[in-house]
Amino acid sequence: MISVVVLISGSGSNLLALLQKSENPIYPAKIVAVGSDCDAAGLEHAELYEVDTFVVNPAQFSSKEDWATTLLANVQHHQPDLVVLAGFMRILPANFVTALKGKLINIHPSLLPEFKGAHAVRDALAAGVTKTGVTIHYVDEGIDTGDIIVQSEVLIEPGDSERTLHERIKKVEHELLAATIEQLAHQQSPVAKL
Ligand code: GRF
Repeated sequence: MISVVVLISGSGSNLLALLQKSENPIYPAKIVAVGSDCDAAGLEHAELYEVDTFVVNPAQFSSKEDWATTLLANVQHHQPDLVVLAGFMRILPANFVTALKGKLINIHPSLLPEFKGAHAVRDALAAGVTKTGVTIHYVDEGIDTGDIIVQSEVLIEPGDSERTLHERIKKVEHELLAATIEQLAHQQSPVAKL
């Protein structure tokens, strides 16, 4: 069983899907805390599942690095094996990323390296491509540049809006994130190494 801290900024539908999966006693990951940079709506999911929450707002710090140091302390307090960025909408400075290297992953709504950044769904539609998708990757110091763990395609349908496409992408994200964490947990577990 691995311990997971999830960081969010928004509605937290990926977080909710993970909380639901981890209700199953054979699911090999437990969410031990949920953190945010703001009063994110998704924190309510954590409260409902009686998971610890913390908010570290960058507005209260004089530099990004100071903010990240406090965010990191909150994360490390829970001694996670894995930290998941699930809609965390801040760029994390090097001091945070370096400290968690190899156990920090992000979910992104495109087939990276296509459509990096905060508007990946909109950008895919604007580019007129016929398919986009989901990428789960390790986080490095760049923006959406870390090593890719897994990807899954989503076809763009005629008449798709940013909302309808993102909804379909999120359905894929919910399954892929849970399955990927499950796989990483099995890789980390001592039994899997025997
Ligand atoms: C997801 O599409 C994720 O890929 C992106 O932000 C969105 C978060 O959605 N990084 P939610 O808050 O989990 O609903």
